[in-house]
Amino acid sequence: MAGTQIDVFAKVRGHERAEQLRAAREADVLPYFRVLEGPARPVVEMEGAERIMLGSNNYLGLTGDERVMQGARDALDRYGTGLTGSRLLNGTTPLHLELEAEIAQWMGTDDAIVFTTGHQANVGTLGTILAPGDTVVADSGDHASILDGCLLSRSKLRPFRHNRMDKLERTLEKAAGDNGGILVVVDGVFSMEGDVAPLPAICELCERFGARLMVDEAHAAGVLGARGAGTAELLGVEERVDLRMGTFSKSLASCGGFIAGSAEVVEFLRIQSRAFLFTASSVPAAVGAALAALRIIRTDEGRELMARVLENARYLRDGLEERGFAVGAPQPLPGGDAVVTPIVPVLVGDDWKAVFLWRALYDAGVFVNTALHPAVPPGGALLRTSVMATHDRATLDRALAAFASVKDAFEAEHGTLPGPGAH
Ligand SMILES: Cc1ncc(COP(=O)(O)O)c(C=O)c1O
Repeated sequence: MAGTQIDVFAKVRGHERAEQLRAAREADVLPYFRVLEGPARPVVEMEGAERIMLGSNNYLGLTGDERVMQGARDALDRYGTGLTGSRLLNGTTPLHLELEAEIAQWMGTDDAIVFTTGHQANVGTLGTILAPGDTVVADSGDHASILDGCLLSRSKLRPFRHNRMDKLERTLEKAAGDNGGILVVVDGVFSMEGDVAPLPAICELCERFGARLMVDEAHAAGVLGARGAGTAELLGVEERVDLRMGTFSKSLASCGGFIAGSAEVVEFLRIQSRAFLFTASSVPAAVGAALAALRIIRTDEGRELMARVLENARYLRDGLEERGFAVGAPQPLPGGDAVVTPIVPVLVGDDWKAVFLWRALYDAGVFVNTALHPAVPPGGALLRTSVMATHDRATLDRALAAFASVKDAFEAEHGTLPGPGAH
């Protein structure tokens, strides 16, 4: 039999991003894989200089908290560096069980299951609870791990346009004709734009069409709601959401993920989810840190930290708008209030402009994240800034001054940036 002429590695050469990456590297404007040389704090050491960190998900600033670090150390001392196997076989410690029980209490659900990463929580839940014959309806802005789980399940995927309830309704009408079970899955807070899903309207539509609802609270758990239980709590629909997903890699200052929900679904995942069964358990230090962070979140101090991160977000958003940048509007809430989540995107539009603006800010001592297509829609490049509860006003003022100081020179060289109201 003749062999193939096609090299399976051919795709690694000359792919559509290769030229862009090469040019960005040559101009030393590549915003990715920059090296952090110390702890993730409000001001960090990166590549030989101090930079204000506006590009992390350490919303409560707990990664450097002595009690959280002690939680990790105690777990390390007691259970060692790793568990060398899955939760099913030899990877469950009392810390895992305590963490699952406390998450279920925190979320107000029957039960919760802890995965090794948040990505695995999504893939391992969607890939298990959905099957061929079912339909999954997903917001087009959902996190990549949601999409991965949907694809893995081989259920019918019906995406709808980001946060558009008319489109969701139409999609559910079509999904009803598929004649299988229906799951709607949305981010509570969207990871790049920081906007909030209109959960009351989504719940209503799910109820009308007999669909189940899963909400990814990765950026909302430990941030939104009086208990920090996320968007579902903030919007008063906890009882109407079937599955709530969260990660430990953001407010909980560690690494790992969870699903909280009914006992029967969680138990099914425990015995069926391949991303749970066929991977090593989280290392004890990660579980110990997450548990310590969760215990802080559930106290008055946690509530103060959550209030502070939201105040900081509003301060940064308003400050950027005053300085002529295009930031999103505060999100209206039922009852007349509005919220600015800790993710404050600055719209730039063009990919290269975003990359050059990122570099100018980096040189001015501020690190932000750059989101280009496909992380955002084409032509929607943005700088994703985010705050911590532990940023003080003086540091945020310095960051705002850096934004203001680079703007004129940047626009003279690269053209105008979108202004307030352009989002
Ligand atoms: C919305 C959302 N869901 C899931 C994940 C995956 O979580 P993790 O980083 O813990 O794997 C992330 C973060 O990367 C996220 O932003």
